[in-house]
Amino acid sequence: MEIRNWVYEDVYAVAALEKECFRDPWTYGMLAETFFNSAAITLVAVEEGKIAGYAFAVKGVEDADVANIAVAPQFRRRGIAQALLKALEERAAAAGVQRLFLEVRVSNAPAMLLYLKNGFTGSYVRPRYYADGEDALVMVKSVAR
Ligand SMILES: CC(C)(COP(=O)(O)OP(=O)(O)OC[C@H]1O[C@@H](n2cnc3c(N)ncnc32)[C@H](O)[C@@H]1OP(=O)(O)O)[C@@H](O)C(=O)NCCC(=O)NCCS
Repeated sequence: MEIRNWVYEDVYAVAALEKECFRDPWTYGMLAETFFNSAAITLVAVEEGKIAGYAFAVKGVEDADVANIAVAPQFRRRGIAQALLKALEERAAAAGVQRLFLEVRVSNAPAMLLYLKNGFTGSYVRPRYYADGEDALVMVKSVAR
């Protein structure tokens, strides 16, 4: 498996995965705008020549927010999300980020287990954070070097 920054040609595949994996997907246009955002960290995992997963985060001064991470159903439970998270953490820490934050649907047990296994802890709940009214759990991890 290879983890690398995403390039323009990857955006169709990432947008298709977003649609497959999320009820409220980022659109092609929203994803393409990350190329104009110098604070964006955008990664894909390539497996068997295919875009198997992706992750992106947005850096602030000391904190970064993991905007999304997803793996195609046929490539799940092979450690791809863990590898993407680790790469995100390394890039963020190298840019001086102290803490990584993320929001996860309170019903999304697989994602919560992934984050707990990788050192994130639950911080607080954002009531009705999602458009359909579901709450988000905010999770945080220190990545300071
Ligand atoms: C959550 C998601 C990214 C995990 O991707 P993945 O590549 O399958 O995850 P990994 O193989 O790296 O799993 C790492 C650990 O996370 C936990 N985990 C992942 N999927 C799980 C599941 N379905 N059930 C229980 N635990 C799970 C396990 O602890 C796993 O370790 P193990 O396989 O040794 O038990 C993937 O299921 C996905 O894309 N879901 C839809 C999109 C989504 O919800 N993204 C998160 C938004 S906050």
